[in-house]
Amino acid sequence: MDKANAKEIDWNNLGFSYMDLPYRFKAMYKNGEWQEGELTEDSSLNMSEAATVLHYGQADFEGMKAYRTKDGSIQLFRPDQNAHRMHNSCERLLMPPYPEDKFVEAVKKVVKANADFVPPYGTGGTLYIRPLMIGVGPTIGVHPSDKYLFTVFAMPVGNYFKGGLTPTNFVTSEYDRAAHMGTGQSKVGGNYAASLLPGDNAHKKGFSDVLYLDPLTHQKIEEVGSANFFGITKDNRFITPDSPSILPSITKYSLLWLAEHRLNLKAEQSDVYIDDLDKFKEAGACGTAAVISPIGGIQHGDDFHVFYSETEVGPLTKKLYDLLTGIQFGDVEAPEGWIQ
Ligand code: COI
Repeated sequence: MDKANAKEIDWNNLGFSYMDLPYRFKAMYKNGEWQEGELTEDSSLNMSEAATVLHYGQADFEGMKAYRTKDGSIQLFRPDQNAHRMHNSCERLLMPPYPEDKFVEAVKKVVKANADFVPPYGTGGTLYIRPLMIGVGPTIGVHPSDKYLFTVFAMPVGNYFKGGLTPTNFVTSEYDRAAHMGTGQSKVGGNYAASLLPGDNAHKKGFSDVLYLDPLTHQKIEEVGSANFFGITKDNRFITPDSPSILPSITKYSLLWLAEHRLNLKAEQSDVYIDDLDKFKEAGACGTAAVISPIGGIQHGDDFHVFYSETEVGPLTKKLYDLLTGIQFGDVEAPEGWIQ
């Protein structure tokens, strides 16, 4: 694949696709410790055919973004939270966590080295950053590797769900994304592999993605594709599900805080029953890639439930979107420690 050229990018029509940017950061773990990492131009990886990532799925990753502000500078949104979540994912897969302060340093190096690829302010585009860790040492028994690669690469992106702020529809599935006490809380490759078939089925039926139900009872909402779910009730409560099998989204925790402290809504994590959607006046998907994507309707069996509208974003969802993106792009004052 050819290296991307910033001068040839149409910033107003970015999709969500891979681009091979000039620089990425790579560090190796061997002999029981992380080696000094460095920026490199080489976007390929070299590993043993018996690498644990290939057979036993020893892979975890993060998704985060860099934002261009009005004055042309570049900022990150809560990168310490991504570093911490990756630490937790590593512990779940018996991988050696990359030190959290060095994680943030590596992300900053990659953003600075590829600064030409951070989309201009006003286009809505961002630089999506993908930290990734994989087991690369040869192991044929089911054991953790003794060698790991940590890499951070990036690419400019636009909307994840095609609609952007226009609502799209989702459908429930008979498949689960993650088991009750499995790896759902960790950002590991296997969760996403398990979502490919149900996601493809949903796309073929014309839906944006799957609305996953809880693996134990299939009665409670868990996640929306690769984003978290939130709903706003008719009595103005911001609710998002609480479960051991969903990903702890940094966007979701930020929205819980913003809903309560900036919009005076009651904000809580609690069960959301699929048969109890009438209590919500608005709903959405949230995540780093999804930002806030309004949910128009949900198909569950023969029922199709519409929230606010299938064509227009609801007013509270729009307020949350403006607040969150205002903070991320530097137009709205951020809570302490959220921006670097
Ligand atoms: C993110 O929101 O950053 C994610 O990781 C979702 C992704 C799998 C596209």
